[in-house]
Parts: sequence; structure tokens; C-alpha cells
Amino acid sequence: MHFFDLIKKRRSIRSFKKLGVEDEKLERLINAANLAPSAGNLQAYEMVAVTNEQLKEDLVESAFGQKFIAEAPVVFVFLQDIKRSRDRYGDRGDFYSFQDAIIANTYLQLAAVELNLGTCWVGAFDEERVKELLGTEKRPVIITPVGYPAKGAGHETRRREVDDMVKFFD
Ligand SMILES: Cc1cc2nc3c(=O)[nH]c(=O)nc-3n(C[C@H](O)[C@H](O)[C@H](O)COP(=O)(O)O)c2cc1C
Repeated sequence: MHFFDLIKKRRSIRSFKKLGVEDEKLERLINAANLAPSAGNLQAYEMVAVTNEQLKEDLVESAFGQKFIAEAPVVFVFLQDIKRSRDRYGDRGDFYSFQDAIIANTYLQLAAVELNLGTCWVGAFDEERVKELLGTEKRPVIITPVGYPAKGAGHETRRREVDDMVKFFD
């Protein structure tokens, strides 16, 4: 798909078919995330792919009851690897590793559109609870459920006028 068509097609999907995601597609999503840029090419993030039903339900609870998360056959959690980035960049590493996780997740979400899959960016969750569930000390940044969109899932959303948001300095 042409890139500009793809970014127009992408929308948040909050309802999924009861259909698994093929391993080959999962691999392609992960490899797409892996192509994202990162500060110093350190890739200071981790991807956790959750398919366990109980753990998905626990993630729903950690995300304040956002039930659609568990409807997806696979739920990715992107973790920030602060230490990895701090070891090279000191305090700035916090900021860089956060961005590393975000851009990698963005690549994964856009690749999903190309593969006819749907995702939703979930940022509202209890970080400490997610850490506990995944048995990690790394900071969870985004939860991304992935699956085939249910019929009629997703709708076009409005955007601000770009004139409100862009300043040109000539
Ligand atoms: C940082 C961030 C946090 C978000 N958190 C949530 C969330 O917790 N739950 C949810 O349903 N959508 C969440 N979204 C998705 C937005 O609601 C959605 O992107 C926005 O309404 C525009 O809709 P669209 O993605 O369909 O274009 C989040 C998006 C971003 C970028």
C-alpha cells in the first residue's frame, strides 16, 4: 500500500475478530519495529508479546477495564530500557529510551495496517501493575493489542487544523 494511503487507513481498532494472527505476520510486525530508528542505535526498549488469556485479562484490569485489549489475540507491551540508554547518555537516556519505545511501537502499528491487522495505542494503564504482571523492572510505555478488526471496527476521527499547529520560520 502507498504510505500516504496507509496512514490514512490506520485508525484505532477497539474490537477484534476471534481469529489468531499468523506467526509469519507476527514476525513481520516484530521485524518492522526492529527497523525503527533509535538514539545511538541502542534500541533501548523491549517488546513483550502476550497471548496467554489470563495475562491478557490481567492487562485489561491494569488498563482500568479496557476490555478490548483481551479481545485481541496478541497484545504487545513496549518496555523502556532506561539503563541501556543511560549507560551511554546519562540522564538524557530516560528521554531517549522513552522515544525509542514509542517509535518502534509506531512502526509496528503502521506495519499492522499493511497486513490488514488492527491495533490501538493504549497509554492509560497502571505502570506498577503492568511491571508486576510481566515480572519486569522496565517501565511499560505502551500496550498495543493486535488482531483482525471486527466488522465495522474503527472510525474516522477529526484532526486539528494544521494552521493551528504549524509555525514556519522563513
Ligand atoms: C499516547 C496515546 C495514548 C492513548 N491511550 C489510549 C487508551 O488508553 N485507550 C484507547 O482506547 N485509546 C488510546 N489512544 C488512542 C487515541 O484515542 C486515538 O489515537 C485518537 O482518538 C485518534 O483516533 P485514531 O487513532 O483512530 O486516529 C491513545 C493514543 C495515544 C497516542
